[in-house]
Amino acid sequence: MTSPLETATNLLICNSPIVSHNISVIRDKNTNAETFRAAVRRISQVLVNRAFENIPVEQKIVETPLMSTKADVIAPRAEFIIAPILRAGLIFSEVAMDILPVAKVHHIGLYRDEQTLNPFSYYNNLPKNYANPLETYVYIFDPMLATGGSAVAAVKLFTDLNIPQENITFISLIAAPEGVLRLSSEFGNIKILTGALDNHLNNAGYILPGLGDAGDRTFNT
Ligand code: PRP
Ligand code: URA
Repeated sequence: MTSPLETATNLLICNSPIVSHNISVIRDKNTNAETFRAAVRRISQVLVNRAFENIPVEQKIVETPLMSTKADVIAPRAEFIIAPILRAGLIFSEVAMDILPVAKVHHIGLYRDEQTLNPFSYYNNLPKNYANPLETYVYIFDPMLATGGSAVAAVKLFTDLNIPQENITFISLIAAPEGVLRLSSEFGNIKILTGALDNHLNNAGYILPGLGDAGDRTFNT
């Protein structure tokens, strides 16, 4: 019998050697914060480039020193939003800003209540509306997709502003099956990109094998 995860066709596990090697580094409990951040940057470069593969392009003519040639360039009419979930999504967003400097960055402040595991919203700087939602592309970054509560809350901020689900990509380092199923059952048409799909959550809502608390390991807290 096919599992619901296998039919979550919008899930892409991007486990290239660079990604899997660096995920082994960040999983290791003996990795310090500096090395952890460097490994997250390397993974982010692969995942961000992969996520940006759906960016709309249009053709223009470029004059080289020798002749004219056609080139695909990022469609100037499109708007791109990089949305890191605080705190641990910040490294991802730095990498994404370097790769796509025309993007706007809209931060989303969420933390999980340790008892209920429900997300608590403490900040966001999204606009009241997007001028052209159909041509707005959103990339939400959060290293851990655990219960999926934070991811669902973040995606909803954008669908409430009429961004089509097809224009939204959620990118994580590590995802739990529980989070993937929850996110894809609430938003069946968003794309989910992750570096690793882990086994399951423990009773405290942590991903196993996982890497522990991503925010604490990133910021040495
Ligand atoms: C972590 C992580 C996600 C969330 C995932 O953040 O960065 O945002 O948990 O869990 P969920 O899928 O069950 O919602 P945390 O709440 O620890 O905040 P922090 O980044 O500020 O440490
Ligand atoms: N948040 C984390 O930082 N780690 C987990 O394993 C789950 C949620």
